[in-house]
Amino acid sequence: MRRVLVVGVGCGHPDQVTVQAVRALDEADALLVVRKEGREALAAERQAIIDRHRTAGPLPTVALEDPHRPWRTDPDYDAAVARWQEQRAERWGRAIADAVPDGGAALFLAWGDPSLYESTLSIVREIDARGDVPIEIEVIPGVSALHALTARHAVPLNRVGRPVLVSPARLLTDGLPDGNDDVVLMLDVHGALASIPADGIDVYWGAYLGTDDELLVSGPLADVRDRIAELREEAAARKGWMFDIALLRRRVDGAAW
Ligand SMILES: C[S@@+](CC[C@H](N)C(=O)[O-])C[C@H]1O[C@@H](n2cnc3c(N)ncnc32)[C@H](O)[C@@H]1O
Repeated sequence: MRRVLVVGVGCGHPDQVTVQAVRALDEADALLVVRKEGREALAAERQAIIDRHRTAGPLPTVALEDPHRPWRTDPDYDAAVARWQEQRAERWGRAIADAVPDGGAALFLAWGDPSLYESTLSIVREIDARGDVPIEIEVIPGVSALHALTARHAVPLNRVGRPVLVSPARLLTDGLPDGNDDVVLMLDVHGALASIPADGIDVYWGAYLGTDDELLVSGPLADVRDRIAELREEAAARKGWMFDIALLRRRVDGAAW
């Protein structure tokens, strides 16, 4: 049996790595890193976390090549994602068996919190379900981007007794779904925030939260969204990638709180 540690490391600020996460880094026998084109900056961040916090000596790193991601062009999105996850589980399972001795621990570092829009944990659960490489899964929670956002704007995530929806941006292009007045928009690949119907909605927006490049804007969506679009475009061109998140809050009876 091998342990698989899935450790949340926060979403950009080095001090968001918890004491529990630091302990887990010291228990690992190998770090498994998925190589993603265009995400070299995040891979460097992960290595910096190991270099800064691990005291148990050098940690071998195993690079996992990601299978091709076909679903942007595949007509059957769900089937394409399921096939991709199976291929990943098979490759990752083999890599764990090769890199980690029986009784040892494999380490995955997850951006933010491992349970929020992170495929790592689903793939690790798939390895467990396949059963060909017996593993025991341990998850260490991390500071997610949505909590970094609400902290930086000093706003509560929810209003009293009301629900919150967390959604990929591509599902929000027609606006906030009925009955959802507090919506967290993530994974905005195509700048969907710029075209969401803005009437009566306030936005709390942040990009590269916790890093030296952090950007924050808040206000009525109709007033600030051009400014957000400009900042997004300029920063994405300069850095080569964009990570942003927004809390959209519909005024209910004129009230934001
Ligand atoms: C693949 S998801 C990972 C989420 C992560 N597990 C978490 O707990 O925040 C990536 C999305 O998270 C958001 N995100 C992650 N880090 C961020 C940061 N430092 N600043 C702003 N948004 C961030 C963006 O919406 C980005 O598209």
